[in-house]
Amino acid sequence: MSKRGAFVVIEGLDRSGKSTQAATLIKRLQESNVPSKLIKFPDRTTPIGKLIDSYLRSETELDDHAIHLLFSANRWEVASSIVKDLENGTTVICDRYAFSGIAFSASKVDPSSKPVDTSTSDGSSVAPTHSTRPPLLPYSWCRAPDVSLPAPDLTLFLDILPHIASQRAGYGGERYENQEHQERVRELFSRIAEEVEAEGVGRWVVLDGGLELKEVEEAIWREVKEALRGGDDGELGSVKRLWD
Ligand code: TMP
Ligand code: MG
Repeated sequence: MSKRGAFVVIEGLDRSGKSTQAATLIKRLQESNVPSKLIKFPDRTTPIGKLIDSYLRSETELDDHAIHLLFSANRWEVASSIVKDLENGTTVICDRYAFSGIAFSASKVDPSSKPVDTSTSDGSSVAPTHSTRPPLLPYSWCRAPDVSLPAPDLTLFLDILPHIASQRAGYGGERYENQEHQERVRELFSRIAEEVEAEGVGRWVVLDGGLELKEVEEAIWREVKEALRGGDDGELGSVKRLWD
């Protein structure tokens, strides 16, 4: 059997530079004769993806549980082909994955809900914000539909402050692209990073997405080369599953 490919996920807030870096990375891999393929979630081209696209553009309203499950189903549609590619020696670069699924859904709040206590020590109260409202969907519920999907060998998290991302071109066009929501998404990603590390679901590496494009590109390349070597023992082993 040929050596299996590495499964590399790029994650981050909206406008953190993921898609730009994923495109550069795949070009570099191909120039280095590494069989590789770029995929992206949501994949808006499938029938499920078209529903997701319409929801993100605010053309359709969907129940929050329903859209969460559609995002997951959109990954399950291609889960077996990801495993097949990896086993055939193709390295798969994936622009967003199940971690976005958890972070963007578990960060949702009901804007009409009663805020968690916002009173200050002197008895006055502050205006409720996104982060003082209770979550709409439990974290464990958001994690469940993606259990048993192929697990990445490496996740590169492009970290950017929401107010910096909000100044980047094209920001604000889609649902979720507002700073309050993105602040909470960023907190959720930190929680996910801790779990990935605790449960050994591949490596999670945080890279500074606020750096110059070229610097981010080089940092990504170093990590990916390491992942392709297969870590300490030089073996990627069989494809693992989220979160077992
Ligand atoms: P995109 O900008 O990378 O195409 O992603 C579209 C939006 O969908 C982005 O705000 C993140 C969000 N998202 C989810 O809410 N759940 C998911 O499972 C995925 C993959 C993305
Ligand atoms: Mg986006």
